Amino acid sequence: RYQAVIFDLDGVIVSTDRYHFLAWSQLAWQEGIEFNEQINHRLRGVSRMESLEIILEKASRRYTPVEKLKLAERKNEVYRTLLGDLTDGDMLPGVAETLSALRERGYKVAIGSSSKNTPVILERIGLSGYFDAVADGNGIKNSKPDPEVFLLAAGKLGVPPEDCLVVEDAEAGVYAAKRGGMAAAAIGEARNCQEANYSLTKIEELLLIL
Ligand code: BG6
Ligand code: MG
Repeated sequence: RYQAVIFDLDGVIVSTDRYHFLAWSQLAWQEGIEFNEQINHRLRGVSRMESLEIILEKASRRYTPVEKLKLAERKNEVYRTLLGDLTDGDMLPGVAETLSALRERGYKVAIGSSSKNTPVILERIGLSGYFDAVADGNGIKNSKPDPEVFLLAAGKLGVPPEDCLVVEDAEAGVYAAKRGGMAAAAIGEARNCQEANYSLTKIEELLLIL
């Protein structure tokens, strides 16, 4: 019954979620701010500036808007350096096979990501130009859990939201899909999210529910 599958990028297609964690950890350490996996969990799917705001909740002083922009830039520089090592080998297990099987079965495939680095990442893993539509952090005002990025992807595909299935590893992303009137399949860190329509232990399971 679905016509299209919209994939989140970081943590679903590619293992960049580790790099986000490393880059934020370094920044937090340099600034003397407590940071751990639990706080990191809240950053999944959330935009760069919103992520920074979450990290700064533990800061012992206030930062001006200009300082915040500089901090975000510093984090992104470290992150971009880490992305320099990215290859198609960093695609998560089963992704390449699942994408081509979906294609073969006639599904449209798209990316719906909060990341402004989406074009660079797709390039590095050899998938730029592969998707029928790409909606990312460069084209939206509100990041997940707002549905904007997924509605943009559906619009670009020309498929009604109710005919789209979203694959997400972030709770914020699952909420975004649901708010946009789409079905959500949760994987990885979001696997136990109650709002999701499906829970996947590995991405190949998509082929069983479609
Ligand atoms: C999301 C990640 O895909 O992109 C978040 O899950 C990240 O952790 C967000 O903060 C924004 O990424 P970027 O690349 O624009 O800093
Ligand atoms: Mg993600």
